[in-house]
Amino acid sequence: MATSAPLIGVTGSTGQLGGRVAARFAAQGQPQRLLVRDLARAPQIPGAQIVQASYEDGPSMRAALDGIQILFLVSGYGPGRLEHHYSAIDAAVAAGVERIVYTSFLATAPQATFTHAREHYLTEQHIRASGKRYTFLRPTFYLDRAPRWFSPEGVIKGPAGNGTISWVSRDNLADVTIAVLTTNGHDGASYEITGAQALTLAEAAEQFSRATGLPASYQPETLEEARASRARFNPTDWELEAWVSTYVAIATGEMSVISHTVQALTGHAPQTLADYLHQHPESYQHVTVTRL
Ligand SMILES: NC(=O)c1ccc[n+]([C@@H]2O[C@H](COP(=O)([O-])OP(=O)(O)OC[C@H]3O[C@@H](n4cnc5c(N)ncnc54)[C@H](OP(=O)(O)O)[C@@H]3O)[C@@H](O)[C@H]2O)c1
Repeated sequence: MATSAPLIGVTGSTGQLGGRVAARFAAQGQPQRLLVRDLARAPQIPGAQIVQASYEDGPSMRAALDGIQILFLVSGYGPGRLEHHYSAIDAAVAAGVERIVYTSFLATAPQATFTHAREHYLTEQHIRASGKRYTFLRPTFYLDRAPRWFSPEGVIKGPAGNGTISWVSRDNLADVTIAVLTTNGHDGASYEITGAQALTLAEAAEQFSRATGLPASYQPETLEEARASRARFNPTDWELEAWVSTYVAIATGEMSVISHTVQALTGHAPQTLADYLHQHPESYQHVTVTRL
């Protein structure tokens, strides 16, 4: 914990990551104000102030951030989110917030292969231009979602070639977030946040099989096959390009990073795929192939 405890504005607490951060803060007695879109869905967090605000509604954000020193800004979702992020950042500047900690993404760049990483890059640029103190959290894809990469038949399909990925859990990311928000020395830092093992999807399938006793495999696809195999879910173009480029970013090596951030900032090793599957058998209930 920091020597003094500034009031922290926490966004996204109705979601998975922000909810974990808010619960950890409550357990620590850290003063916090939760900014939620819908008061009726605000989590029951002892001691937290709760206010309504939406990123795209600048006046609501400006009012909700009054008196806040540090803003934890969870990235939004959907094709309009870049403008929503800009609106939230501008409101933070207007409200006099001193420091912004933003959940970005690994390998952000103007031409990043994973299409969402381009929006994160532009959001980071907007925060840099604000002149505020900042820290960027750059996690890779969530380990919690990795079991869902397997189809009911136990197959991961995608144009990932032989590239590798080092998934990180939301719990590990939440622990890093708490460390960054409550200790000093993170200004201007961009933390890559990954697990400790980079796996090809074939290796991930082997680990999945070993941990679950279910047959699993990786079936590489071409770009055309990937787009076609996902068309039955009727994704928007924004969703489809993000989905397919997730795998292409693995093929290019952009997701091969192994960082030491979890260990360095939390003092414990990151969860592995096997750990996660052992701890969360519910995460692969959708895989219905016959046991080996
Ligand atoms: N999928 C991945 O592997 C992955 C990996 C790294 C990072 N991320 C990013 O990390 C973010 C957080 O992850 P998560 O698991 O916590 O997601 P989540 O459970 O969907 O939570 C997102 C939170 O952000 C809030 N939010 C979204 N748009 C908002 C807006 N315009 N104004 C105010 N609040 C808004 C949501 O509020 P409501 O409850 O009102 O919707 C919700 O509380 C995701 O949004 C995603 O961009 C994802």
